[in-house]
Amino acid sequence: MAVVVALVCALIFSVSSLGNALSSNYYDKTCPNAEAAIADAVEKAFANDNKVPAAILRMHFHDCFIRGCDGSVLLKSVGQNTAEKDGPPNVSLHAFYVIDNAKKAVEALCPGVVSCADILALAARDAVVLAGGPTWNVPKGRKDGRVSKAIETRSLPGPAFNILQLQQSFSQRGLSMEDLVALSGGHTLGFSHCSSFEKRIRNFNATHDIDPTMHPSFASACVAFVQQRTG
Ligand code: HEM
Repeated sequence: MAVVVALVCALIFSVSSLGNALSSNYYDKTCPNAEAAIADAVEKAFANDNKVPAAILRMHFHDCFIRGCDGSVLLKSVGQNTAEKDGPPNVSLHAFYVIDNAKKAVEALCPGVVSCADILALAARDAVVLAGGPTWNVPKGRKDGRVSKAIETRSLPGPAFNILQLQQSFSQRGLSMEDLVALSGGHTLGFSHCSSFEKRIRNFNATHDIDPTMHPSFASACVAFVQQRTG
C-alpha cells in the first residue's frame, strides 16, 4: 500500500499540467491554512460516509488522466458542452460535494487563491490517510483547466482492457508498467458495480461461460460475489 500511494505522487507529477512548477510551499504566504481547511472538510465527510475516500481517490485519478490534474472533472456541463463529469466512465463518480465544501471553506479564508485542482489533489491524499493508508507530500500550484469534454473520457482505461491496452494508456501519460501495477492498488479502496466485470463471468462467448484469460480462483470469487448479490 505504501508503494501504491507513494506512486500516486508519480501520477500527479506525470500528468499534471506540463510547464507549471509545483512546490510544497506554494500557498505558505497566500493561504497558509488551506491544507487544514481541506483536511477538515474531508474528515467531516468521512465521519458521515466511509465511502468518501474511495470516491475522492478515483475522482483524482480520472481528473489527472484527462488533460492532466487540472480539476476539469469537477466542471459541470453547460449549454451544448457535455463535461467530463457526464462522460460514461464518470457517471459513477460520487462525493463531489466534499470538494465543493472544501472549496467553500478555503474561499472563506482566502478568496480566489487556491485552485480546485490542488484542492482535489490534497483531498485525495487526506482521504487515503483517513482510510488507513499512508500520507505523502502534495506539491501545489496546479492551474484549473477551463476545458472539460465528455468525449475525452473515452481515453480513460476501461474495465475490459487487457494488459497491453492498460500499458499503452499509462505510457501515453508518461507512466511505466511499475506505476500501472502500483497505482492499480488504488483498488484497495472502494467497490465496483457488477456491470464492470459481469460480461467476463457469464455468457462470455460461444465456447466459454467465463473468460478463460481470468485467473480461475479470481473468476470463481467473482461468480460467488455476483450470485450473492443477485440471490
Ligand atoms: C489501471 C486502470 C484502471 C481501470 C481499468 C480502472 C477501472 C475501475 C472500475 C471499472 C471501477 C469500478 C467503477 C464502478 O463500478 O463504479 C473502479 C473503481 C475504482 N478505482 Fe479504478 N481503474 C483503474 C485505475 C485506477 C487508479 C490508478 C486508481 C487510483 C490510484 C483507481 C481508483 C479506484 C477506486 C478508489 C475505485 C473505487 C471507487 C468507489 O468505490 O467509489 N483506479 N476502477
